Amino acid sequence: MITKEFNEELKARIDIADVISSYVPLKKSGRNLVGLCPFHNERSPSFSVMRENGFFHCFGCGAGGDVITFIQKIENLDYVDAVKLLAQRAGIEVPEDASDSGMGKLKNRIYEANREAARFFHRMLYSPDGKQGLDYLRKRGLTEKTIIHFGLGYSPKDRFALVNHLQSKGFSKNEIVQANLANVSKNGHSYDRFSDRVMFPIIDMRGNVIAFGGRIMSDIKPKYLNTSDTPVFNKSRNLYSLQFAKKKANGQLILVEGYMDVIALHQAGFENAVATLGTALTDDQAKIIKRYSEEVVICYDADEAGQKATQRAIGILRPMGMRVKVLTVPNGKDPDEFMRSYGEQGSSRFRMLLEKSGNDFEYRMSKLRSQFNTEIPEQKVEFLTKAAGLLSELENPVEQDVYISQLSRDLEVDKNAIRQLVEKNSRRHYRQMKKQEQRAAHEKLSGVSDNLNREKRSNLRAASAEEALISMMIYDPDVAIKIAGSVTPDIFVTSTNRRIFEMLKKRVDNGEGVEPDDLSGYFTTDEIEGIVKMLVSHQREKDPYAAAEAYTQILVDQSTRITPEKAAEADNDAIMEELRKKKERKRKPNQENRL
Ligand code: UTP
Ligand code: MN
Repeated sequence: MITKEFNEELKARIDIADVISSYVPLKKSGRNLVGLCPFHNERSPSFSVMRENGFFHCFGCGAGGDVITFIQKIENLDYVDAVKLLAQRAGIEVPEDASDSGMGKLKNRIYEANREAARFFHRMLYSPDGKQGLDYLRKRGLTEKTIIHFGLGYSPKDRFALVNHLQSKGFSKNEIVQANLANVSKNGHSYDRFSDRVMFPIIDMRGNVIAFGGRIMSDIKPKYLNTSDTPVFNKSRNLYSLQFAKKKANGQLILVEGYMDVIALHQAGFENAVATLGTALTDDQAKIIKRYSEEVVICYDADEAGQKATQRAIGILRPMGMRVKVLTVPNGKDPDEFMRSYGEQGSSRFRMLLEKSGNDFEYRMSKLRSQFNTEIPEQKVEFLTKAAGLLSELENPVEQDVYISQLSRDLEVDKNAIRQLVEKNSRRHYRQMKKQEQRAAHEKLSGVSDNLNREKRSNLRAASAEEALISMMIYDPDVAIKIAGSVTPDIFVTSTNRRIFEMLKKRVDNGEGVEPDDLSGYFTTDEIEGIVKMLVSHQREKDPYAAAEAYTQILVDQSTRITPEKAAEADNDAIMEELRKKKERKRKPNQENRL
């Protein structure tokens, strides 16, 4: 657990504005700093850093939190690691017990077990048992240097080889199983998860071994067996070889399907290649990619599945504002097969493909075109209508003009006719976007849509009072003590806010702080985001004590209120009482409005 003293020191040494401006250019605006949000794609700045309160908030996408949350989100780290990174930055020593919590400890043990396993597999590759594995990798064209660079290995046939080895190194059965290096049989014995496979360690950005992929050397299925999700590994939040690729990215990453594709490309000098881990590209992975590059070249298999996956990946990356290109390897090969089939020339040939790989627009246009026979007038019209839709999505008018001209020449259709079609589509596209934006903005402003608190929508008044109380506690420690002493959690109507309140109350009762940066270790990043949103929409009160009382009264009223569901089981007296209250509320409209 991170100690209070350490937290205080960290807070004193770190300025949220300094930290954030090393990622995002910020400009002064009144008391705050503003810039373009790094968590969504925008052109006008809605990202604010409130220096005096120590938090950031984006009015566009709702991202928010304190400096630790910021680091967690932008570096994709968990809480403890974000704190460590900040401490390093501030030149403060992290106390040894910083990751001493149960989960932190287990995670560290899993990292260690994985590292030991990787060493073991690698050593086995050069043992007599592993000869088959080594031969296999060599046959696939990998050099000694590549094998070592990627730390490739071999898992022995003997299903107890790794378990025995790790136990001899002091790892417990539980640790080995939690690392997903072993399975447990019906009668309670643990046995190696990987056996007789060539092993690909998966390494995170900090150099930890977090998982493995293992390839069978025959036609048995599954071809690849991967580590399931563990406390240190989530397959949809990591990319294979990103730890190497990020250093060579230089603004561009190549996205391929498989381990072997990455390795073959790296060996040929394309060290900016990464792969997903046996799943389609996820939003989280796309965000990570965006952090390290502006352009992605999608280079998936040429088969139908690969092409579908390409379209899907474009649909995720493009809206994030990334430049997307598509490289199709000829003759239905994957990048690894391509490299091998051209031997020495592979690298220069691939470079050529890379240079002429079209942007995603050209890719989608050629896909569309291949669905129609434009010799037939009817189909030509249909194609042009659809093409105009695609063209209308291009934001750059010059680009639009270039493609319209090209289409007009290719299909021998009047340029102006195409342009009209495109403009019609543009207007429709624009109207739709506008409508969507307005709806989203409205929902955001009214606070109706709330991802954290799903009960808010149907309990707006109560939820708003709850949020006001929570905000007041965070703004002022004295008010926090007063509220914690007089308000009980049971009057909270929405369970999300009740939980947050309970946590704050507990901390206050223990004499601990409740400012945003005291909280990040106790709430998830989503919860912190929600709390910051509350702070942004509830300014400091002039007379917080009176306001606290008023808000508390609202909650008391609301929580004793009879809803139709409750009425079914309530007795008559309670219903009469409720009706009486309702009348009273009507009689005092002013008070009602003020709150
Ligand atoms: P591919 O079948 O395209 O594999 O799967 P590949 O990389 O070309 O493999 P080689 O060349 O035959 O060795 C692409 C990726 O999908 C995942 C792996 O991450 C693989 O690299 N995959 C595939 C699995 O996780 N399990 C499988 O059984 C197959
Ligand atoms: Mn392959």
